Amino acid sequence: GPENGPGSYPRYMYWLQGIKFSLQLTLLAAIIGIAIGIFIAMCKLSKRKFIRFFAGLYIDLIRGTPVLIQILFIYMVVFASSGLPKLVIGAIAFGINSGAYVSEIIRAGIQGLDKGQMEAARSLGMPYGMAMKNIIIPQAIRNILPTLVNEFIVLLKETSVIGYIAGNDILKANNIIIGQTYSAVEPLMTSAVIYLILTSIFTFIMRKIERRLRAGDTR
Ligand code: ARG
Repeated sequence: GPENGPGSYPRYMYWLQGIKFSLQLTLLAAIIGIAIGIFIAMCKLSKRKFIRFFAGLYIDLIRGTPVLIQILFIYMVVFASSGLPKLVIGAIAFGINSGAYVSEIIRAGIQGLDKGQMEAARSLGMPYGMAMKNIIIPQAIRNILPTLVNEFIVLLKETSVIGYIAGNDILKANNIIIGQTYSAVEPLMTSAVIYLILTSIFTFIMRKIERRLRAGDTR
């Protein structure tokens, strides 16, 4: 099929293959990123200094270096000749990258809450864990959710650099078609429009979530 590269398929099949790959990659990376993000955010809020230190190191290292270098490192060094699918390698690389950003989104969402929230819950006799689960987390989710959808949009656009390890994404379809037609303008505009449509859908979802959360906000 068109996932194997150039051939004589109708053009829409390359686009569909690319869209499928890019969306799968983004979704998998987002799941990994959120899991890592929650874990690192918890480490960052830990009482133990050395746990906070390593969480901070992870965040600084990931955010302070280009995602492209991280992908190439994971592809060429960590999973060199592992035979793992590009989709999986890409998802791990983008997931590790996104996790650092997600952890800061979560940490900011929790620390942005009024300190009195925790104090009030504790003064009513709630144990720390229960206060966290019933008082802090539900409110933090309101702060975090819209930003998390935004991270998903960033991630979708960011996955376009998967071409450096030859993933079959939207830009791969773009390149195949440029190779077949010797014209760059239509494929590039098509690629841009595809990303624009996809990001618009997620922006729409984000606005909807924001509106619903605000409607339920009785503070
Ligand atoms: N493009 C920048 C980089 O190369 C930023 C990546 C942002 N990624 C994210 N998931 N928020 O590192």
